[in-house]
Amino acid sequence: YGDASQKVDYVFKVVLIGDSAVGKSQILSRFARNEFSLDSKATIGVEFQTRTMVIQHKSVKAQIWDTAGQERYRAVTSAYYRGAVGAMLVYDITKRQTFDHIPRWLEELRAHADKNIVIILIGNKTDLEDQRAVPTEDAKEFAEKEGLFFLETSALEATNVEEAFVTVLTEIF
Ligand code: GTP
Ligand code: MG
Repeated sequence: YGDASQKVDYVFKVVLIGDSAVGKSQILSRFARNEFSLDSKATIGVEFQTRTMVIQHKSVKAQIWDTAGQERYRAVTSAYYRGAVGAMLVYDITKRQTFDHIPRWLEELRAHADKNIVIILIGNKTDLEDQRAVPTEDAKEFAEKEGLFFLETSALEATNVEEAFVTVLTEIF
């Protein structure tokens, strides 16, 4: 990839969803600013950040939206999904419950987003391998069944974060 400062050929809206504390905001912060914080606060409402990348010789501005995993802090759902062409469905590999909730998030996504939206399932926090509660195979199998892309990431170690965004942005193309 390269960062392009001149003209933008495309603007793509991508949304992050998943339970609270799975690392959505830190994945975004790693991607947009190459920063990570261990004492990140729960998101309230909606935030977004952008990063422009060159993909297949075109300048693509990714506009990444991030909302609260906690129901009480969530913004109006339909507005959040409006115009989104990509979605990242995130769980924490050390918390089984966050993976078990993925079908619910997928249901919400399918109810509100465009039917052609590109979706990637992301198992975050691979740096905590010794605390793993979700086998890679389980997630892979689920992703295949549902027709989703799948990657495991670590926002802390910056593993696969770039790849996850590139996968979605390239497929949108
Ligand atoms: P909500 O905003 O409440 O929906 O949570 P969130 O999904 O945005 O989680 P957030 O990014 O705030 O991260 C929650 C906690 O997990 C923070 O303490 C982060 O530092 C930590 N965290 C995020 N990503 C990683 C990771 O890859 N590895 C480790 N070890 N911790 C992480
Ligand atoms: Mg957050």
